[in-house]
Amino acid sequence: MEQLNPENIPQHIAIIMDGNGRWAKTKGRLRVFGHETGVKSVREALEGAMHIGVKYLTLYAFSSENWNRPRFEINALMGLLVDSLKKELPTFHKNQVKLHAIGDLSQLPKRCYNKLQETMEETSHYTTCTLTLALSYGSRQELVNVTRRLAEKVKQGELSVDDINEQTIQQDLDTHFIPDPDLLIRTGGEQRISNFMLWQMAYTEMVFLDIMWPEFHREHLYESILEYQQRERRFGKISEQL
Ligand code: IPE
Ligand code: IPE
Ligand code: MG
Repeated sequence: MEQLNPENIPQHIAIIMDGNGRWAKTKGRLRVFGHETGVKSVREALEGAMHIGVKYLTLYAFSSENWNRPRFEINALMGLLVDSLKKELPTFHKNQVKLHAIGDLSQLPKRCYNKLQETMEETSHYTTCTLTLALSYGSRQELVNVTRRLAEKVKQGELSVDDINEQTIQQDLDTHFIPDPDLLIRTGGEQRISNFMLWQMAYTEMVFLDIMWPEFHREHLYESILEYQQRERRFGKISEQL
């Protein structure tokens, strides 16, 4: 952590928390045990990020496609979400964390949805750090919804086709309240995006870690940021122009 340049801390870090099931399997345990242990890593990531002044942390917790998993696993994950929200509320208060969620929240079981809304309301006045949970989130679905809403506005005569631009799309995304991620970290060894923030990650730096999510500690966060700080973000330009 001492090696990090405090002038170049990513404003927004997104994490694909992958590898819970495989980790549990190597321990001879059920996949659900991996998810339970993964909650500790969420705390590591949040506290580690807050410690160095990261403003936005976004965690991919459940994808639209994860609804296709066995019912038992889905139920366990939803139960874990409610328990974790209950348990972490004091941490949110202590660190002034605002909780947000993106995704098709209407698909969540009622008790999850209610707990989520309640926690978001209780933390809505905080500004130190915004923690966004991606739940029942899929970026393609998000983009379909944006397209539908814009088409509806055009149909109603509220918007002209010529006025559709990157801003109008950005303002209609689930993530309209947060800047694009500067850094994406994916644990679990896979090097893919799995339908996460496709539009938003146009210029995000990506770091893929071979460790499984339950093994994640704040040192892994700092190592990933160090890697990020060694990259040159050119945004299409050449080095000499930066
Ligand atoms: C990530 O771990 C958590 C969720 C997707 C909910 P996985 O459950 O995908 O674990 P692996 O990738 O099968 O090991
Ligand atoms: C991505 O992990 C989604 C989350 C971490 C919530 P998956 O385990 O669902 O991704 P794939 O299926 O390996 O691409
Ligand atoms: Mg996985």
